[in-house]
Amino acid sequence: MTPVQIQSVENPLTRAAIFIVVTVKPDAASLETVRGLFGNMGSLLRGVGFRNPDDSLTCVTGIGSDLWDRLGQPQRPAGLHPFRAIHGVHDAPSTPGDILFHIRAQGRDFCFELATQIMRQLGDAVEVQDETQGFKFFDNRDLLGFVDGTENPQGIALGASVLIGDEDPAFRGGSYVITQKYIHDLTKWDALTVEDQERVIGRHKLSDIEYPDSEKAPYAHNVLTSINDAEGNQLQILRDNMPFGRPAAAEFGTYFIGYACEPARTERMLDNMFIGDPPGNYDRILDVSTPVTGSLFFVPSMTLLEALADPPEPAPAGTADDTADDHAQADDTAAPADGSLRIGSLKQET
Ligand code: HEM
Repeated sequence: MTPVQIQSVENPLTRAAIFIVVTVKPDAASLETVRGLFGNMGSLLRGVGFRNPDDSLTCVTGIGSDLWDRLGQPQRPAGLHPFRAIHGVHDAPSTPGDILFHIRAQGRDFCFELATQIMRQLGDAVEVQDETQGFKFFDNRDLLGFVDGTENPQGIALGASVLIGDEDPAFRGGSYVITQKYIHDLTKWDALTVEDQERVIGRHKLSDIEYPDSEKAPYAHNVLTSINDAEGNQLQILRDNMPFGRPAAAEFGTYFIGYACEPARTERMLDNMFIGDPPGNYDRILDVSTPVTGSLFFVPSMTLLEALADPPEPAPAGTADDTADDHAQADDTAAPADGSLRIGSLKQET
């Protein structure tokens, strides 16, 4: 089997990020332009990033359900579907998105330059649905003032939580990502006492120490987003949320971005937050935070992303599965004991 190179899904948080979501125009030439970019992403990343490797420039490219269909691949990732809107105590909209670019670096200049190069190559083949420039706010706090990202999986749990494995062998080394852009009503939030805010999150604000389970409110964010499988094992996702905003326009937000080996676990957390668990016991973050976007993407391995540059060969009848295997077989994507995912035949794009 051919070794597979994964995208930089599990890289640590950086000081800056740009999130761009585009849709691809319906004509064939636009699709060709997009294929060209997929084939060139590795080269673009090297060209911009090598100028200072210490800036840790990375870009994760995700593909939406409709675009996947247009790419004409013989197989489809098992969990890929359009983001499902939720109508609960609060609503989560589903908004268009064919491609997500999640660009991260220590410096805004590196994010900005890569985004510029990507958009220049795409030209008028796409329509921009959203561009959000995120920044690190003090000690990894969101604009509600709480440290965000503390309970992300680490070590061996990280790869197991975010990377597709043997359950979908043609797409091993890939991932799924859900994004939502939230706008906060900080006037309403700041009117709460710190103790009430802490009950909403389930952690102490200044120290970031978690409340003991016995003292957590049933609606606490970390109660509703802690989920288990039938055997009682915790199902985790990797969050790379970033604050964004324009103070002069009174815009303050959190860009939620959650990676997982299957979208179902993130969707269950969303149901718990918006509908409630049990229904009605919803997440009070949503009383002051409104999602204005919602999209779901499949993140192919870097190897598969580059292979998507070429339209699939028309396969003789009965051999479709073999063709997919040529594109995407990984020999081993299980996380190594140190959780680094950088040893053996797995290679990570940087
Ligand atoms: C306005 C949007 C959001 C904000 C401001 C926010 C903020 C936070 C904060 C401050 C924490 C506690 C520290 C930490 O462990 O990271 C947290 C935890 C967490 N959040 Fe969110 N979050 C948001 C949306 C979401 C969404 C949409 C999901 C999932 C669909 C989610 C899933 C989680 C999970 C899984 C945890 C860890 C829970 C635990 O195991 O303790 N969050 N979030």
